[in-house]
Amino acid sequence: MTAPGSSPAGGGAPVVRPRRLRSTPAMRRLVTDVRLHPNDLVLPLFVKEGLREPQPIASMPGVVQHSRSSLVAVAREAVAAGVGGLMLFGVPERRDALGSGGDDPDGILNVALRDVREAVGDETVLMSDLCLDEFTDHGHCGVLDAAGRVDNDATLERYASMALAQAAAGAHLLGPSGMMDGQVGHLRAVLDAGGRSDVGLLAYAVKYASAFYGPFRDAVDSQLSGDRRTYQQDPAANVAEALREVRLDLAEGADLVMVKPGLPYLDVVRAVADVADVPVAAYQVSGEYAMVEFAAAAGAVDRERAAMESMLALRRAGAQVVLTYWALEAAQHWLG
Ligand code: PBG
Repeated sequence: MTAPGSSPAGGGAPVVRPRRLRSTPAMRRLVTDVRLHPNDLVLPLFVKEGLREPQPIASMPGVVQHSRSSLVAVAREAVAAGVGGLMLFGVPERRDALGSGGDDPDGILNVALRDVREAVGDETVLMSDLCLDEFTDHGHCGVLDAAGRVDNDATLERYASMALAQAAAGAHLLGPSGMMDGQVGHLRAVLDAGGRSDVGLLAYAVKYASAFYGPFRDAVDSQLSGDRRTYQQDPAANVAEALREVRLDLAEGADLVMVKPGLPYLDVVRAVADVADVPVAAYQVSGEYAMVEFAAAAGAVDRERAAMESMLALRRAGAQVVLTYWALEAAQHWLG
């Protein structure tokens, strides 16, 4: 008997030759089923109150904290390059226990949303991080109770007020990233009651307490001591927990669901994509970006190829939308 895939003529020569479909660039292009397009990519951007010039972020080579004017300039560039969306994070000058800068219409994030929306209108999708950690002096994603624990339901009230402020400032999609129970439903109800049923929710449905957020803490000058393990998910927990979070967010009215981080959680991205009937986003976080940048700077990997491969992996796992710090460079130079 001849072994499957071997020539009946014997000699072990294979009949089935997968390499034929890899033989030329044209052949490989023809059979490609995962593609990246600038429209799939969302560029996260940091804007810091009081800055006159953009400031480099040491742990994220190539990424900066923007001033208000450099933010508008980069937003225009991103629109010209066809980038699908912008996700804004604000870094305030002053912080307090309640994160008052978050819902202050004159707080840096809301001011920056207004600047960008005025500059680019509906030409791209403007998104805002909806979380308190950038605005609180203790660095947690919510407000604390008398015992110093993150108070879920009191935090929802703070998020509601932020949501209305961000909607008024011009965000198309709000990104609640604090992992409080019930946040999506609460925000949907508050937006609808406030006459803002037009504003959508990009739910951070599945968000792990990850070491890969390390450089982000620099990017937002984070004040956090301790960790976020009472609200973000345990990396060692089962996928069922992730799917439960997704089901809840869908039932509460999420317009998109996101998994974060990306590359270490490709299995979760796939599992979510298999069940979600809304678009799935994956956030390639600061540490994923830094890992490739520093490895490339050390000559260990080819920067562009490693970056592209990691973004493609997220698309292949089922993410339609990829949040990545390479969005602009990829749109301008790598995707043709
Ligand atoms: C919370 C938030 C974080 C990130 C996005 N939104 C930090 C955290 O949860 O600790 C991380 C993004 C990144 O690392 O690139 N506001």
